[in-house]
Amino acid sequence: MWKKLFDWLDERLGLNDLYKATLDRPEPKGNWWNTLGSASLFLFLLQGATGIFLMVYYTPSPDHAYDSIQYIMNEVAFGWLIRGIHHWGATLMVLVVFIHMLRVFITASYKYPRELTWIIGVGLLLLTLGMGFTGYLLPWNQRAFWATTVGTEIAGAVPFIGEFITSALRGGSDLSALTLSRFFSAHIWMLPALLSGLIGAHIYLIMRHGESAFPDKDD
Ligand code: HEM
Repeated sequence: MWKKLFDWLDERLGLNDLYKATLDRPEPKGNWWNTLGSASLFLFLLQGATGIFLMVYYTPSPDHAYDSIQYIMNEVAFGWLIRGIHHWGATLMVLVVFIHMLRVFITASYKYPRELTWIIGVGLLLLTLGMGFTGYLLPWNQRAFWATTVGTEIAGAVPFIGEFITSALRGGSDLSALTLSRFFSAHIWMLPALLSGLIGAHIYLIMRHGESAFPDKDD
């Protein structure tokens, strides 16, 4: 019965061809260091899944943001767990993406023909940091408020356009409801959309070029 269903779908969707084109490849000869890219991908998906659950109760307004987080922590069933995973997952993702980049650098895997994979990777690192920066403000507590005040102030040190960047990030001269809604939409929509697109391109290139061999003493 399952085989019949699969054959029916395969005939219409070309599932077998899709499998052969994407997954049916020889197992890469790597070691534990080669698992960090997949670990980054797993953490990204985990952040997406826990973030969707948090969205059910979180309210992105200065009047309700803090209380909605308290509600998630104290009243919602397993809310503390979901928020805890999202909170520590964010820290872990930055760490894992960074170590993945170090491994790629140390094994010189950024060289021909993987230059574009590396350049897209730089975008992924910046976007991951952006996710952390925008997410930090959302609890709207004292620490979040002042950390973002300092963070957006630092952006003001960019020559010529610094002031513009600060006020574009804040939506005015000071942190306000506008800042919170800007950071919220960047955190749940703009940055994840860009990250998803770049991860897709990153993985396409990895499938195209295969995993690089670790350099040995003759290299
Ligand atoms: C969200 C962040 C990222 C995800 C999900 C991701 C995902 C992956 C995956 C699944 C692989 C194949 C397995 C592996 O080699 O570990 C990989 C390889 C690679 N990544 Fe990333 N990556 C990310 C960030 C980065 C960054 C920050 C850089 C560098 C700036 C980078 C550069 C590369 C390169 C050059 C390869 C090819 C390595 C090789 O062939 O040996 N990636 N990435």
